[in-house]
Parts: sequence; structure tokens; C-alpha cells
Amino acid sequence: RIAYVNGRYVPHRDAMVHVEDRGYQFADGVYEVCEVHEGRLVDETRHLDRLDRSLRELRIASPMGRAQLTTVMRETVARNRVRNGLVYVQVTRGVARRDHPFPDPAPRPALVVTAKWTDRSGLDKLAARGIGVITVPENRWARPDIKSIGLLPNVLVKQQAREAGAREAWYVDRDGMVTEGGSSNAWIVTTDGRIVTRRADNAILKGVTRAGVIDLLGRRNLQLEERAFTVAEAKAASEAFITSASNLVVPVVTIDGEKVGDGTPGPVALSLRAGLHEVTE
Ligand code: PDD
Repeated sequence: RIAYVNGRYVPHRDAMVHVEDRGYQFADGVYEVCEVHEGRLVDETRHLDRLDRSLRELRIASPMGRAQLTTVMRETVARNRVRNGLVYVQVTRGVARRDHPFPDPAPRPALVVTAKWTDRSGLDKLAARGIGVITVPENRWARPDIKSIGLLPNVLVKQQAREAGAREAWYVDRDGMVTEGGSSNAWIVTTDGRIVTRRADNAILKGVTRAGVIDLLGRRNLQLEERAFTVAEAKAASEAFITSASNLVVPVVTIDGEKVGDGTPGPVALSLRAGLHEVTE
């Protein structure tokens, strides 16, 4: 495997950053995970737009122009011969003597790009079975809309899910409303067929896959409701599912061990999964 690190393509095992990188010491950085489908970067523009936004919010300079970054992403995919998989892009504020405020003058932002294969048939099998989610109290900072590399709360709830025999954890805010998953957006289908996901405010990451599903709903004339829902509403829904670049659309068949609908993957989720690549670029 080959990784791109600060201007060079290096063997993956030699892909290193400095111990005083602000990402390492402060999680002072942002990232993107972009799907590679049949050799193409899926919804590249949306990912790059979101990366720019995350960088702007943290006042980190862009490490390079968009065209150049696109070239690096594609080159990393090509050098690793990835046909179906993921590209990971990470930008940190750079290397500086440890001190909390922004270094002045600003160091050069550090850019890392990696690419890997994913086991598509394994993912499809998972989707055909459906997954369990647990619900956990929202305990992240107030800006989950920034795709920050500060993921410790996410790591902890994903591990909690695994130990409970589930695949994802849904954060629930103080009003009892589901915000999103530890690494995915959360959706339900009501018993009267409306498809519900939370409005993309500061409380959630505005998922690229979420946007793709919204496009697909429009094309199929299916009803979208962008609003928060409670855990009780989700448990009583006819279907639930999650979306992310790494898993696409995956049906949720249990919430806290309780069946959603009849406890099998729902037709809406499965058909959105099947149709997603029709609308993505
Ligand atoms: N996770 N919410 C959170 C907290 C996420 O980490 C992600 C993505 C999403 C879905 O966004 P998108 O559809 O753009 O992937 C929502 C990535 C894949 C990850 O951390 O691996």
C-alpha cells in the first residue's frame, strides 16, 4: 500500500507524521472519508465542499487547491489499485511546539491521503441481515457539524455498541431526540411511509450519503421530513436505517434490543441502498 504524506507518496508502513503534529497532540484537524465505487470517487464535490467548510470553521488553511487535492486523491486510489473502497483525507494545523492557541506564524497544514479496499460482499451481507443499534446520551461537543478528527466520544460509544452486540450507537440529546450515529446519520420510516431524518443543524454531521439519499427520494417522489425524532418513535417506526460513505444505506433491525417493525430489513431501506449509486456523481 501507498500513502500520500505532505507532498510525497510513500510505502504505507513508512507513512509517518511528526510527534508535534497538532493533530496528534490536540486532535486539531479535520478529515473526510469518500467512497470509491468502480474506480470513481463518489460525490467528490460534496466531500471537498465539506472539507473546505470544516477547515474554514477551524481557520486552518487549505493545504492545496481543490484541483490538486483531487489529483492526489485519484492518484492515491490508482497507486493502490482500489476499485471499490474508501479514500481517507486528513488535514491538521501542522507541526509546532506544543501550545494550545494557534501557532503564529501558522505552520504548513499537514495533509495525509490513504486509500483502501473494502469487502463489498461482506457489507452487502451485513445490509441483508440488518444491524442493531443502541442509544446513548449525546456527550460530544456542540459542533458535530465540523468533521473533526476529535473522535474519542465516537470511539467510546462504538465500542459500547460492539460490547452490546450492536453495530452502531445513536446519540440522544437532552430533549430525547436522536441526533445521529457514532459514524453515520440516523433515519426512520414512519408507519405511514414518511422518511424522516434530522435537519442538518450544528448537532449533526451533514452526511454526503444523507444528501445522496435525499436526492434519490426526490427522484422517486418519496416524502422526506427533515426533523428530529425520539427513540420511542424510532422503536415504533416501520423501518430504521443508517447512512455513511463507508456503509452506504444499512437497515437497522433492533434498537436497544427491541425489534423495529418485524425485525427484518425494510423494503424502503433496501431499495434506497440498491438505488443510491444512480444519483451519486
Ligand atoms: N463517518 N455522522 C458521523 C458522526 C460520521 O462520522 C459520519 C461519517 C456520518 C455520515 O457522513 P457521510 O455520509 O458523509 O459519510 C455522519 C465516516 C464514514 C467515518 O468516520 O468513517
